[in-house]
Amino acid sequence: MSVVVKTIGDEDRELLTELLVRRWTSPDILIEGEMIDASQLPGFLAFQDGRLVGAVTLIKRAHEWEILTLDSLQRWGGVGTILLDAVVDTALELGMPRLLVRTSNDNLDAFRFYQRRGFRLEKVVQGVIDEERKLKPEIPATGLHGIPIRDEVVFARPLVSENNR
Ligand SMILES: CC(C)(COP(=O)(O)OP(=O)(O)OC[C@H]1O[C@@H](n2cnc3c(N)ncnc32)[C@H](O)[C@@H]1OP(=O)(O)O)[C@@H](O)C(=O)NCCC(=O)NCCS
Repeated sequence: MSVVVKTIGDEDRELLTELLVRRWTSPDILIEGEMIDASQLPGFLAFQDGRLVGAVTLIKRAHEWEILTLDSLQRWGGVGTILLDAVVDTALELGMPRLLVRTSNDNLDAFRFYQRRGFRLEKVVQGVIDEERKLKPEIPATGLHGIPIRDEVVFARPLVSENNR
C-alpha cells in the first residue's frame, strides 16, 4: 500500500474539518475543561490514491507534544502507524522530549495501539468525561464494546533516542 503523508497546511483545513466532524461529531474537542478546535491545529494527513485515509492533530507545547486526535479511515492497514511515525520522526528531529495522548476508558484498540508503540500508561483521570459530558452532551454515555465512557487514560512516550521506537 502506498500511503503519502503530508503536513497539514491551511489549504487542508476544510478536508480536516470534514474528517473531524465525521469521527468526533465536531472539530471542537474538550481537554482539561478547554474547548480546542482541532481543525486549526498542526499535524499530518495521510492520502492513498489521492483520497484522505487518516489524520493526526497535535497540541505543541514547549516540552511535549500532545496527540489530540489520531484517526485512521481504513483501520488495520497501517495508516495509524504511518501517521504516528510521522509525528515521532518530526518530534525527534526537533528534540522534543516526549509525546502524550489521552483516550477514553473504552478505547481498548487505542490502549493496545499506543502501548505496542512505546507509550506507557501515565495516569487515569477518573470521572473527567462524565464532567465533560455536561459541557458537550453529544459525548455518548456508552462507548466501544458496550463500556460506559467515564474516565480519561493518559499515555506518554519519552523520545530520548531513536532506540525508543
Ligand atoms: C487507533 C487507530 C488510529 C489505529 O489506526 P490503524 O490504521 O488501525 O493502525 P495500524 O493499522 O497501523 O495498526 C492497528 C493494529 O491493529 C492490528 N490489526 C490488524 N488487523 C486486525 C483485525 N482484524 N482486528 C484487530 N486488530 C487488527 C494491526 O496488526 C495493528 O496491531 P499491532 O498493534 O499488533 O501492530 C484507529 O484504530 C482509529 O482511528 N481509532 C479511532 C480513533 C482513536 O481512537 N484514536 C486514538 C485516540 S486519539
